[in-house]
Amino acid sequence: MSVLGLRREPIENVRVGFIGLGMRGPKAVERFTHLEHATVVALCDKYPEPVAKTQEILSSHGCSPAATFTGDNGWKRLCEMDGLDLVYVTAPWQMHAQIGIYAMECGKNVALEVPAATTVEECWGLVETAERTRMHCMMLENSCYDDFELSCLLMARDGVFGEIVHAEGGYCHNLSAYWDKYRDDWSMRFSVEHRGDVYPTHGLGPLCQLLDIPRKDKLSYLVSMDSGAFAGSAVASSRYGSSRTFANGDITSTLIRTVSGRSILLQHSVMTPQPYSRLYRIYGTKGYANKYPVPGFVFGEGKEFLPEAQASALLEKYRHPFQDCLQHAGMALDGHDGIDFIMDYRLVECLHKGLPLDMDVYDAATWSSIIELSERSIQGGSVPIPIPDFYR
Ligand SMILES: NC(=O)c1ccc[n+]([C@@H]2O[C@H](COP(=O)([O-])OP(=O)(O)OC[C@H]3O[C@@H](n4cnc5c(N)ncnc54)[C@H](O)[C@@H]3O)[C@@H](O)[C@H]2O)c1
Repeated sequence: MSVLGLRREPIENVRVGFIGLGMRGPKAVERFTHLEHATVVALCDKYPEPVAKTQEILSSHGCSPAATFTGDNGWKRLCEMDGLDLVYVTAPWQMHAQIGIYAMECGKNVALEVPAATTVEECWGLVETAERTRMHCMMLENSCYDDFELSCLLMARDGVFGEIVHAEGGYCHNLSAYWDKYRDDWSMRFSVEHRGDVYPTHGLGPLCQLLDIPRKDKLSYLVSMDSGAFAGSAVASSRYGSSRTFANGDITSTLIRTVSGRSILLQHSVMTPQPYSRLYRIYGTKGYANKYPVPGFVFGEGKEFLPEAQASALLEKYRHPFQDCLQHAGMALDGHDGIDFIMDYRLVECLHKGLPLDMDVYDAATWSSIIELSERSIQGGSVPIPIPDFYR
């Protein structure tokens, strides 16, 4: 039976266990120390030292020590423990779906970092397990909580852009400074082996919300094309020796057509010098918006951006109420302008109040499925590939 709009019993105090304490996990643990109605009760990493360091974060905030788990399968013991309401996963991509499915089987709600899964089979595994166990499974797509995206969502609902015809999103981020920082090289290894948009959800998530998928529209099919792996091959040969090939093209573009005839352009570009951008462009019958390099709007017969003062007034008029979560100290906590804090705040608030989560397992599956579907399109010579209707 469907878990669309799933509500579970309110949880007075959400007891959370974290799996994967590398770059991302400890920051999430620290955010949770600032959240009312949540307590960090368990920490897990394959290696002991990140667990010990994260335990210090808890003690520096006056929190009780958490139960600890290490080793290759420590995450299973964490999922099995009593007195745990939520498993929060910041481990490598390749483990997300496996952990998510196991956590739900153990009767735990689960929040998975992006992407929630790397194959279509894993996506269906998450959906089917959530439906069978009636547990929440949310993907931690923080870009859905960015202020510009949230304001545009309210504007779209209010008809400010008219009918949205086309939207663009992506992940354009020169990652050359990061490759050495991922423990065990899991991120680079994925791109050594796979073509396609391997990180589609930052771009696609907010656009699916904007287009009101699945209530008003659904994703129908996609076509993808990549460039050659010019920079990628050079990186691979310097890291692994000259015989190592690199599958992932430096820039991958994916076009998605929706059932009602709208189009989405997604880009993935992490190998070459460029400014950070998630694109976020909206083309509607009455108006246009873009977020990068600076937010701007064009309306009616205009060809120029709205003057800055008018654009600011518009953004203020459509300021999303989620922004108020930041008054609870989040802004100082992360380098993502508070979006991570709003995301965690909302996750705990919904569990605490017994509300449906902002993003459900169907969103997680749909947005993550682009990884394999774009690879299949490219391997077939940019052929159209149907996008499964995970929402059924
Ligand atoms: N939403 C965002 O803005 C954002 C930003 C950065 C990273 N992420 C996501 O967060 C996740 C983690 O990224 P990261 O940068 O922290 O990576 P990382 O490599 O720094 O951390 C991963 C951690 O998982 C641990 N790990 C590996 N195997 C394990 C196992 N079997 N059991 C327990 N722990 C295990 C590693 O030891 C490491 O400490 C990824 O999914 C990434 O895509 C999201």
